[in-house]
Amino acid sequence: MKTVLVTGGAGFIGSNFIRLALKVRPDWRVVVLDALTYAGNLENLEGLEAAYPGRYRFAHADVTDAGRVKALFEEESVAAVVHFAAETHVDRSILGPTAFVKTNVMGTATLLEAARGAWKDRPGRYLQVSTDEVYGSLKETGFFTEQTPLDPSSPYSASKAAADQLALSYYRTFGMDVVVTRCCNNYGPYQFPEKLIPLMITRALAGENLPVYGTGQNVRDWIHVDDHNRGVLLVLDKGRAGEVYNLGARCEKRNLDLVKELLRVAAAVKGWDPVQTEGKITFVTDRPGHDWRYAIDPSKAESELGYAPQVPFREGLESTVRWYLEHEGWWRRVQSGAYKDFVQALYGERR
Ligand SMILES: NC(=O)c1ccc[n+]([C@@H]2O[C@H](COP(=O)([O-])OP(=O)(O)OC[C@H]3O[C@@H](n4cnc5c(N)ncnc54)[C@H](O)[C@@H]3O)[C@@H](O)[C@H]2O)c1
Repeated sequence: MKTVLVTGGAGFIGSNFIRLALKVRPDWRVVVLDALTYAGNLENLEGLEAAYPGRYRFAHADVTDAGRVKALFEEESVAAVVHFAAETHVDRSILGPTAFVKTNVMGTATLLEAARGAWKDRPGRYLQVSTDEVYGSLKETGFFTEQTPLDPSSPYSASKAAADQLALSYYRTFGMDVVVTRCCNNYGPYQFPEKLIPLMITRALAGENLPVYGTGQNVRDWIHVDDHNRGVLLVLDKGRAGEVYNLGARCEKRNLDLVKELLRVAAAVKGWDPVQTEGKITFVTDRPGHDWRYAIDPSKAESELGYAPQVPFREGLESTVRWYLEHEGWWRRVQSGAYKDFVQALYGERR
């Protein structure tokens, strides 16, 4: 059995990763480390302990808590780390940058130090999950390659860029086996409803206005969360130490077009009038420092590792919209903070 420490496993991408990994890696034991912030939700991991006895453990811990992280490495014979845990919402990073520096930079440093200590005699592999936002903004043409200089715009992306560099420095300085993935915008089930796609669906269901930043012409590059996670597994298996791999599905969309597309799907499923639904779109003051366009070139992962995203956008979007429509209880509990009470009852503390 290979023990893999997955941080941030109660969040959107991490929980999807764990479900996928436990299914396709029968020789893995997954130890989840998560602080259960507003974005982490134990409901996202429900049923796994029963479904995979002995192969799943949840540890409620903050990645910046050096003592707890070190103890976890001592208790478990960790062979690999997949580091998802982060503060992730750009708008929140504008309101309060320091939490991002603490978790994303200090948390990564804490984890790297614990891994370095534990892996002195028994080396393991460390995978840093990062974002295309570290590259900054593109104009109408061109793509981000792994050679694109880092030029982050928001406190979120700046903290992620610092964390990437720190992780890579452990390869260069200490010879630690480090790989970094940088992915574009993910969509899929279990995404916290502050992010664009679930935000639009949940607001449309409530009959609320649908706020789109600026003119809605900004471009984002989209990938289904399972395709991202298959890429993470591939890089963990076959990526070269000290290398960065861009992951993406070559799927650029203008924000406004994406919103219209998802509203059409929701309207069709719910029997709403599509024109009336679209009429709820309102343009709001643009986000400060709003990057114009992201577009990932995943050629390196494709040619070196055989990476090939499998979920066609239209199909993935439809199943995602349906998932939120069918899981109203989930997102209402997340929005209401009811699950926080459950965590409070379970662990007796709140963040
Ligand atoms: N969502 C995207 O489109 C996207 C794209 C590329 C890369 N990423 C990266 O993937 C990772 C996961 O993103 P996500 O969208 O699933 O985020 P998320 O906000 O849904 O989940 C983050 C998770 O990290 C946990 N966490 C936060 N602070 C912590 C701390 N101090 N200690 C321990 N756990 C903590 C939260 O409880 C939560 O479970 C992040 O590193 C993010 O930068 C995200």
